[in-house]
Amino acid sequence: MAFVIAVDGPAASGKGTIATRLGAMFGLPVLDTGLLYRGVGVLTERAGADPDDPRAAGAIAATLTAGQLDDPALRTRAAGELASRVAIHHPVRAALLDFQHTFAGQPGGAVLDGRDIGTVICPQAPAKLYVTATPEVRAERRWKQLKGQGEDVGYDDVLADIRKRDARDGARDAAPMVAAPDAQLLDTTEMTIEQAADAARRIVEAARARWEGSQETT
Ligand code: C5P
Repeated sequence: MAFVIAVDGPAASGKGTIATRLGAMFGLPVLDTGLLYRGVGVLTERAGADPDDPRAAGAIAATLTAGQLDDPALRTRAAGELASRVAIHHPVRAALLDFQHTFAGQPGGAVLDGRDIGTVICPQAPAKLYVTATPEVRAERRWKQLKGQGEDVGYDDVLADIRKRDARDGARDAAPMVAAPDAQLLDTTEMTIEQAADAARRIVEAARARWEGSQETT
């Protein structure tokens, strides 16, 4: 397979920023797969359908297009909650597979960040990271981000959201959030973004060297 970098982890762990930085460092396109679930959640609600109905949300997922992912409404706190609700449905996850596989299958390689990239979407990815941080530190980061976007929300509410989402994403039976056995763990709790990006770069450079070696022998 082409050089795919899978970056998984819970909300606000830093995985999105790390994925973006890795894309720039290694010259690869980046897909934030959380946006797909956010898109399905928001569009389901806009259509007046029930996000907890697997069939309704699955039908919306089947119509999702790349052009719908630029909507700033997908970056809100409410969209994150809706995303996690629709993400438990098998029909939703199935409908989003092709989009993700096509992106990952680009000949030059790609970076995908999400919850199940290293386990379900690209289990053969040559480089896998699982990015974590404590719930308190993640809540602090997400709270600052939401405030910066103009959302009027308290830290305690953001922490409660994060805990609820972790529990739902980890306990669901469709592609639960879990580190792949061969993923490198990166705990960013005590790291600045520069330190985290640097640690990620070293992990991926080592994986790339191994991958290049395996390409020469095949
Ligand atoms: O990463 P982000 O916070 O944008 O993801 C929003 C929600 O979408 C997550 O809480 C999770 O429920 C879902 N998701 C998922 N699988 C992915 C990416 C996101 O289930 N690969």
